[in-house]
Amino acid sequence: MAHDLDEYCTVNQPRFVDELIELLRIPSISAQPDHAPDVRRNAEHLAASAREAGFTTVELVETEGHPAVFAERIVDASLPTVLVYGHHDVQPVDPLDEWVSPPFSPEVRDGRLYARGAVDDKGQVYMHLKAVEAHVRTRGELPVNLKLLVEGEEEIGSVHFEQLVSTLGPRLSADVAVISDTGIFARGVPSLTVGLRGLAGVEVTVRGPSLDLHSGVFGGAVQNPIEALARMLASLRDPATGRVTVPGFYDDVIDPTPEERAAYASLPFDEAVFRSEAGGIPATVGEEGWTVLERRWARPTLEINGIWGGYQGPGTKTIIPAHASAKITCRLVPAQKPADIAEKVAAALRAATPPGVIADVVAKHGGNPVVTPADHPAVRAASRAMGAVFGTEPVIIREGGSIPPVEVFQRVLGIQSVLVGVGLPDDRIHAPNEKFDLDHYAMGIRTLARLWDEIAEELG
Ligand code: BES
Ligand code: MN
Ligand code: MN
Repeated sequence: MAHDLDEYCTVNQPRFVDELIELLRIPSISAQPDHAPDVRRNAEHLAASAREAGFTTVELVETEGHPAVFAERIVDASLPTVLVYGHHDVQPVDPLDEWVSPPFSPEVRDGRLYARGAVDDKGQVYMHLKAVEAHVRTRGELPVNLKLLVEGEEEIGSVHFEQLVSTLGPRLSADVAVISDTGIFARGVPSLTVGLRGLAGVEVTVRGPSLDLHSGVFGGAVQNPIEALARMLASLRDPATGRVTVPGFYDDVIDPTPEERAAYASLPFDEAVFRSEAGGIPATVGEEGWTVLERRWARPTLEINGIWGGYQGPGTKTIIPAHASAKITCRLVPAQKPADIAEKVAAALRAATPPGVIADVVAKHGGNPVVTPADHPAVRAASRAMGAVFGTEPVIIREGGSIPPVEVFQRVLGIQSVLVGVGLPDDRIHAPNEKFDLDHYAMGIRTLARLWDEIAEELG
């Protein structure tokens, strides 16, 4: 039944790649103020592509930060309505010298497209445009009503997303949301994601003397801010149990069900492969009593993302530095709350501050964790569409990353999401040499094209 779509996709695949390459040339790094004009240009480029693909109303929606793209193709009030979400912003590219080809000069090598945003998330958003195009050009129409919301601030925590949702209001009404911003379990093991972790962050600065001091003249009698910070950070996890020691950290955690744990245990997880995907680490670590998959998907964690202070240049500089800082983020699971966790981490850091220094702790914007229903009719539809294209039925998984809008759709709009991403664990998202396997790009487009038929059947 989907042969017409498949054939259209096969014939046009080279052009689908060329078009994506043009989008990937735009350095839409949302975190860096210098790139704000590029994020806007990227939104404009994407809006034009959405119009060409067959969306009938297309507009840029302003926020207090970067603009989003909103588009619709409304076919008939009697058909189910699907809201597609994605993001057009990308992560920073440093360290630049580790890229084989520059991050915004996309290059195909060995059937893979290398560029920042190739798979997270420009490439996966583009799959949606091309799936719409396939329907419109082969059949003249879509079997569902489609709405598209592509934000420009996902990689900085979707800071204005709730504002965006309230600006658009009833225009976002839909029966279900479909999102391609995740990966599959392993090559050959397609999967649908039904859980994402949330995020809570703090930044801490430890201040001692008001200036860098001579470490010979003052050393031994003055608290060293870097040493103080190191002790404070180290106190946040018990190395014997792998558990976060922040008081109350686990209070609101809802454990995965025994059924869910059994399902994860039956997945073809290979610890050696995981260690290699994790950059060749010699061993995994984590909270006692939980498997590697559970630690990554269904248990919270606290991670130090950056630490700085003192002298970093060549040679020796004998000082006691005036201050030292660190960035910390926690990954949360239901029903932990970002503000609550950030406050608890801040309190633990203050309590662990040794005499002789002062700690300033600032909470950062976070996002709520989410679990979506695995038995939703649209999950069945996605399972059939993906199974047909990948040749084997997808498994149900959670992921450890965060997409805060999924929880916003659920809580604010009452809309559940189906997460149909096609990334691979070795795609190097957020790292140098991010890539998108072009066979996965092609299979993703065909999966989404079929999905509209399947959703029309399930929800129609
Ligand atoms: N697409 C990712 C999230 C993701 C990655 C989900 C892998 C599943 C598998 C997203 O773009 C992302 O990176 N999110 C950030 C959110 C944060 C800045 C609030 C993340 O998880 O760090
Ligand atoms: Mn993403
Ligand atoms: Mn990302």
